[in-house]
Amino acid sequence: MGRAVKHIAFDEQQIAERVASLGREITTAYPDGDLLVLCLLKGSFMFAADLVRHIGCPLQLDFIVAASYGANTTSSGNVRLLYDPETNLEGKHVLLVEDIVDSGRTLQKLTELMLTRSPKSLEVCTLLHKQIAVHLRHPVKFVGFHAPAEFLVGYGLDHAENFRHVPYVASLA
Ligand code: IMP
Ligand code: MG
Repeated sequence: MGRAVKHIAFDEQQIAERVASLGREITTAYPDGDLLVLCLLKGSFMFAADLVRHIGCPLQLDFIVAASYGANTTSSGNVRLLYDPETNLEGKHVLLVEDIVDSGRTLQKLTELMLTRSPKSLEVCTLLHKQIAVHLRHPVKFVGFHAPAEFLVGYGLDHAENFRHVPYVASLA
């Protein structure tokens, strides 16, 4: 892998407990159904898979693939859509599931795009939030953890495509 993790920021049990409670929050927030969960790949694959198992209301699931980072640890500011969801968003309660909000650029771009498709509502659920993004026009409704201002890997998050599989979130040395 080349690099080793420095310390565990959120362990498996912390993540499991928080994801379960987020699932309960989301369940009560959508009493009338029509929920479409949009999993932002690749980073949120593990989070979304665990999260939907804790959402009690009927839902549909689709994916978005966006690339915003290359092999380094700083934001490129470029957000490219590599896969666009096939599901029609019109009239649906759309919940965009993110792994981490850093500068907020990815979210800004994606929420703007999703809003042009006339969803009934659009909310964002992120596992981690660095609280750095100050100019977010679309506030993040569901936040798993406030994250330290470090580069984090694991539980879906990568560094140059490594570490996605580890079951905890850790910072890099
Ligand atoms: P933003 O556009 O700066 O908010 O960055 C959001 C995207 O960059 C996330 O969806 C991640 O894929 C990636 N990213 C941001 N911070 C980190 C980090 O600490 N570790 C791994 N990926 C990150
Ligand atoms: Mg990434």
